[in-house]
Amino acid sequence: MFEELPLLPPDSILGLAAECRADPNPDKVDLTIGIYMDESGNCPVFNAVRLAQRQLVDEEQTKSYIPPQGDPQFIEGLVELVVGSDALGVRSGNVGAVQAPGGCGAVRLGAEVLKASGTKGKVWVSDPTWPVHVPLITSSGLELGQYRYYDPATHGVDFVAMTEDLAAAGAGDIVLLHGCCHNPSGADLTPEQWREIAGMAASQGFTPMVDLAYQGFGEGLDTDVYGLRCLIEQVPEVVVAASLSKNMGLYRERTGMAIFVGPNSRTAEATVSQAKAAARRIYSMPPAHGALLAGRVLGDPVLRADWEAELTAMCVRINGLRLEFQKRLENATGRDFGFIAKEKGMFSFLGLSEEQAKQVRSEHGLYMLNSSRINIASLNAGNMDRVVAAVTSVL
Ligand SMILES: Cc1ncc(COP(=O)(O)O)c(C=O)c1O
Repeated sequence: MFEELPLLPPDSILGLAAECRADPNPDKVDLTIGIYMDESGNCPVFNAVRLAQRQLVDEEQTKSYIPPQGDPQFIEGLVELVVGSDALGVRSGNVGAVQAPGGCGAVRLGAEVLKASGTKGKVWVSDPTWPVHVPLITSSGLELGQYRYYDPATHGVDFVAMTEDLAAAGAGDIVLLHGCCHNPSGADLTPEQWREIAGMAASQGFTPMVDLAYQGFGEGLDTDVYGLRCLIEQVPEVVVAASLSKNMGLYRERTGMAIFVGPNSRTAEATVSQAKAAARRIYSMPPAHGALLAGRVLGDPVLRADWEAELTAMCVRINGLRLEFQKRLENATGRDFGFIAKEKGMFSFLGLSEEQAKQVRSEHGLYMLNSSRINIASLNAGNMDRVVAAVTSVL
């Protein structure tokens, strides 16, 4: 049977990162992959995670399965971090949450539960969106639709186009929104725009699904979920796919959660039962290590404060890099790069054509996606001049 298998092309993002690793150019710079890099080009282990891990190694008595729904301390801590107690108000008993293998696992579990509802509606994703959304959602059997989101001409959200498209979304449809730090564009909705989308969801009856992979990377832990909490306050049903890969640095530990906010406690139980059944048929039991670490970090005041301080420092560094990069690009090219400093999180499109993105790769060893999406957090004092010079040379 293996003889019949076609060989698939490499993943569009991971394939470029592999190409960069294989490039012998000593001056190469990899701005492709969505991993936070510190000033020395490392993806760090958070200090609080390191401490929690020491405790866990000393205290862990078993490697038996954790409960299928997930580690209770992790569930309690992450639901509180994401949803917050204020937004829920009297609906706090209406939340169902199931641990998932990373944010990807959470998107998939969310999609499986929505599919199980029998909806014939579509999942509307932004144009553009993170490409992995497509297989994660369609593998549940749900169909995709698209709404216009980013306008390359203005380097910002085309909110008029977005709302025009979403005017066609109704009951049974699901609208996938990036909670903050939109991937790939970095262009986020303003608070007023979030309120408008929440109003549309409430009046038209569509269900928002929020992919939250960068909470704390945009402006802060609470500010970054302003939009999500607006939705929860105004819309009867909201699905959240939360990831701790980036904001707790738990990438390889596959630590995430599908959260379902519904109208009552029965729907909460139903969503959890459906998500557990979906997990059982796909991968059976949740991975434990990352969730046990995150549960400790979120639940212990000392570890939590340490984690929040380190996360804040990362966020401040990213926003500082954005300002510096904007300034240097503007000085070198005489063009306006103000959008770089306005956008949020790790990603921005530089606005290069596909040809120019390929040219900086072949001529300067500067790796970005063909769409010219770059990871701002991979910039540092050691490579910024090279990046600015390479970009300037093709403009
Ligand atoms: C928009 C978005 N959603 C979800 C994820 C999920 O990440 P993970 O499955 O590693 O937690 C990512 C990771 O890059 C992402 O960019």
